[in-house]
Amino acid sequence: MRGEVCIGSASVLSLISLILLIFMHVGQINTSTVPRGISMVNINTSGYGQALAVALGDPISGLYATNATAPLAQQQGLRDTYKFGLYSYCGYLNGTGLCSNTTAANRFQPFTALTSDMLTNYTGFTTALITQGTFIDSSYLGNFTNGAYYLIIIGSVATALALFTGLLKHTVLFFLSTTFAVIGALALLIGATIWTVIIKKAESINEFVVGHPDALVPLGITVSTGNAIFLLWAAWACLLVSILPYMISRGTMYKSIARATALATGVLALAAGVGAIQKVSRAGRYLYTEDGNRFFIKGIAYQEQGATSTDPNNPFSEPSTFIDPLTDGSACSRDLPFLQQLEVNTIRVYSVNSSLNHDDCMNALSQAGIYTIIDLALPVNGSIDRNNPSWTTNLLDLYIETINAFNKYDNVLAYNVGNEVIVDPSGTGAAPFIKAAARDVRAYLNSIQSSALVGYAAIDGDDNWVLPLAEYLSCDPTGSNSGSSAIDLFGLNNYEWCGDATASVYSGKNGDFAGYNVPAYFSEFGCVKQPPRLWTEVPVIFSPPMSDIWSGGVAFSYFPAESNDGEFGMVTIDGNTVTPNDDFGRLKAQYGNLTFPTTPSQSDAGQTNFPACPPQNSTWLASNTLPPTPNDAACNCLEDILSCQFTPKTTNTSAIVGSLLDLGCSLLGQNGGNCNDISANGTTGTYGRVAFCDPDTKLSFVMSEYYELTNRAATSCDFAGNATVNSAAPASVSGANAAASSCLSNPSATFTPSAPATTGGSGSSGSNGSGSGSGSSNNNNAAVALVGGSPGALVGIAVAFVFGALGSVLTIA
Ligand SMILES: *[C@@H]1O[C@H](CO)[C@@H](O)[C@H](O)[C@H]1NC(C)=O
Ligand SMILES: *[C@@H]1O[C@H](CO)[C@@H](O)[C@H](O)[C@H]1NC(C)=O
Ligand SMILES: *[C@@H]1O[C@H](CO)[C@@H](O)[C@H](O)[C@H]1NC(C)=O
Ligand SMILES: *[C@@H]1O[C@H](CO)[C@@H](O)[C@H](O)[C@H]1NC(C)=O
Ligand SMILES: *[C@@H]1O[C@H](CO)[C@@H](O)[C@H](O)[C@H]1NC(C)=O
Ligand SMILES: *[C@@H]1O[C@H](CO)[C@@H](O)[C@H](O)[C@H]1NC(C)=O
Ligand SMILES: *[C@@H]1O[C@H](CO)[C@@H](O)[C@H](O)[C@H]1NC(C)=O
Ligand SMILES: *[C@@H]1O[C@H](CO)[C@@H](O)[C@H](O)[C@H]1NC(C)=O
Ligand SMILES: *[C@@H]1O[C@H](CO)[C@@H](O)[C@H](O)[C@H]1NC(C)=O
Ligand SMILES: *[C@@H]1O[C@H](CO)[C@@H](O)[C@H](O)[C@H]1NC(C)=O
Ligand SMILES: *[C@@H]1O[C@H](CO)[C@@H](O)[C@H](O)[C@H]1NC(C)=O
Ligand SMILES: *[C@@H]1O[C@H](CO)[C@@H](O)[C@H](O)[C@H]1NC(C)=O
Repeated sequence: MRGEVCIGSASVLSLISLILLIFMHVGQINTSTVPRGISMVNINTSGYGQALAVALGDPISGLYATNATAPLAQQQGLRDTYKFGLYSYCGYLNGTGLCSNTTAANRFQPFTALTSDMLTNYTGFTTALITQGTFIDSSYLGNFTNGAYYLIIIGSVATALALFTGLLKHTVLFFLSTTFAVIGALALLIGATIWTVIIKKAESINEFVVGHPDALVPLGITVSTGNAIFLLWAAWACLLVSILPYMISRGTMYKSIARATALATGVLALAAGVGAIQKVSRAGRYLYTEDGNRFFIKGIAYQEQGATSTDPNNPFSEPSTFIDPLTDGSACSRDLPFLQQLEVNTIRVYSVNSSLNHDDCMNALSQAGIYTIIDLALPVNGSIDRNNPSWTTNLLDLYIETINAFNKYDNVLAYNVGNEVIVDPSGTGAAPFIKAAARDVRAYLNSIQSSALVGYAAIDGDDNWVLPLAEYLSCDPTGSNSGSSAIDLFGLNNYEWCGDATASVYSGKNGDFAGYNVPAYFSEFGCVKQPPRLWTEVPVIFSPPMSDIWSGGVAFSYFPAESNDGEFGMVTIDGNTVTPNDDFGRLKAQYGNLTFPTTPSQSDAGQTNFPACPPQNSTWLASNTLPPTPNDAACNCLEDILSCQFTPKTTNTSAIVGSLLDLGCSLLGQNGGNCNDISANGTTGTYGRVAFCDPDTKLSFVMSEYYELTNRAATSCDFAGNATVNSAAPASVSGANAAASSCLSNPSATFTPSAPATTGGSGSSGSNGSGSGSGSSNNNNAAVALVGGSPGALVGIAVAFVFGALGSVLTIA
């Protein structure tokens, strides 16, 4: 009898659930009374007209539709309210409206819906104005809600089946009914979670402000959760509760299922874990593998030399091209046996191309237990320029694209944010830009749950600036023992040991780094000035007292590398044949003979401290005020509304931007203007509000300032055919200034950058600028931070939810 009661109540609950779901499904399919009252999301745009008028400084005639029943998505004017259902959306004007055509699997794409209703000139202003936040990312929102739609359909069908099979009195069907209810509950849970998170993310638009920094006004577009979401959650809850009685009556059966599942999961995890390379992390000033052993970098540099010139302007023989060593699987399998002979556990790679595939090389290295240290910079314009340093959107985007390309591999030990950017005391004003790069890369890695370390590799030099550089990169300028702008790993390219030296050659550096706070290593070593190279420094570096101060080193170099001092290469390569030289043999003997010290243990390593930064003096010029996080959205916004745009006839813009900027700044100077807005000075710690933009945007900004300053004289926007007047710019000078200020409303913000958009569209790119003015704070609420912006994360959450839900169901049983 008890069973019957259970089944009876289960049927009632699944009936309620089904009814709630049916109501949810009809929301916004047309404008009759019931459907119009039910929606997943509501968007109120009635304040947007006023905000746009403020941002443009012009009246906004024709923005809103005058005919409430004019068709949607045909540039017939904006409606004041939009409501989205599961199948279609409706636009309303003063309460009357109409709906889009009903199509299965409607995607929630609010920005597309809004902009496709506006006259084209307002669509242009809107995409230029709203450049940040998930709200405008229609493909992201659309894809997830489309996926959620199918889950909700599955959930609804399963609920109906659970109800009907449950009504028939047959033991097998009872079991079937419960199975359907479980499937339904899971599908609804995930679908409802996706929708809830998506709406939370779209609500970022509610905080958006426009106008002059001194007089910001809200954007006037607000997103709110519709009542259908509550129906959905209520339906899920009813269905879940309907399962419980059955679960309880079948308790023993489910317990054994739970045990079997746990066992299977354990076996799977074990199988997956066997042989996998261990994660390396920092504790105190040392590195440890997951099993708690101290980790030393026993490495070799692994990059074929790019084209170098003997140009007097290039005293460090830096390459102008590069060959990505991790894209050619057959080359990697050719070299892997030699790396294994050397018994290296790490290779250092100086430049990679994020658009290429690295699977074969990275996976082969991982299986061989070899980690990688990946330098993020690229030759020529892909690195912080030591002569004119800045930290800009194009560099940040380049770095993030590389991280995204390598994040899927388990054997990235560290990402270097720079190599030898500073080479003498007069260049130490570049350090704030390097530190800002470390800060933003750190924040990005945290946001994607990457445990890779953030490093920098320094050229060796006098203590009077190399030591403060090391200290500065791992200090906390806010004096609160925070590591948010600190590197995890300091590399010193050290060539002090030449020929058969004695341990005393290192005593100076050992003294300098004896009290250092984060792990340090020789990011290059192996002097060629007194051949032959005996590599007798190896046992010295990897044993006390040096092993208490350093965490190993990277021998330079596997591939041939020609320099003024001699040849560094340890193999020669002819097609598929590798011929190691004597250097290789001697390094192999030394590396092969190493036993790593085991002290201090991880528990003795303690916490890492982040002390105050070194004071400025004549050999250390870096300010403790760091530049802001480069803001893609702000720069894209600017590029769209500037009145005179840099429109080069060549794609090789890096070759002409410099001279055009010089010209633009001198013209501004002659007309009473200046280039302060695009300038950055790491010594004074002053950063112009456009200084974080890429060079092309800076140039457009300078061109536009000159054009405005000369009252938009046609001849002012030419620059020998390199500039064009932007017809989409606000019509008046004051409007243009207001729009620019609006783009740059938060010029000194530090925030967690997001990945640059990979799909086109000027408005949808990049980082969101809503952070605070200092530190690494993150204003996102929990639901938003949870997802972090990558579809992979959302899938991960969905999977976690499935297992979480399964777990709780099984535990209840
Ligand atoms: C829409 O927003 C405006 C302010 O922007 C507000 O006055 C109005 O009440 C809102 N409408 C609804 C239906 O919430
Ligand atoms: C909507 O209402 C406002 C104010 O009540 C009015 O100015 C406007 O003309 C109305 N629009 C339509 C299309 O009825
Ligand atoms: C509004 O638009 C509909 C559909 O295009 C049209 O049938 C109707 O005549 C229009 N009403 C007015 C007042 O223009
Ligand atoms: C809706 O359907 C009608 C008729 O099938 C078509 O003319 C119209 O273009 C469609 N509208 C949209 C927004 O797809
Ligand atoms: C946008 O275009 C409409 C129609 O062409 C015009 O009435 C309106 O003034 C324009 N708005 C602005 C701000 O240029
Ligand atoms: C990366 O590789 C792609 C495809 O070969 C190429 O088009 C692009 O120029 C490369 N990027 C760099 C920075 O070398
Ligand atoms: C500047 O300070 C650093 C320590 O931060 C010190 O090593 C260096 O000698 C100082 N330079 C001068 C010229 O005093
Ligand atoms: C190997 O290391 C041992 C001590 O750890 C040392 O005695 C021996 O000489 C080393 N062999 C070579 C070839 O350096
Ligand atoms: C470097 O310059 C090339 C050609 O001008 C450009 O395509 C590329 O995006 C630039 N790279 C960076 C990081 O700015
Ligand atoms: C770009 O221009 C510079 C200077 O004219 C030249 O050295 C370089 O080779 C060019 N790069 C490309 C990819 O054409
Ligand atoms: C930064 O400012 C200092 C002090 O005003 C000045 O000496 C230095 O030349 C400036 N550096 C740059 C790169 O403008
Ligand atoms: C653009 O500027 C560059 C550098 O000043 C100059 O060489 C070139 O002639 C200009 N015009 C065009 C069409 O590239």
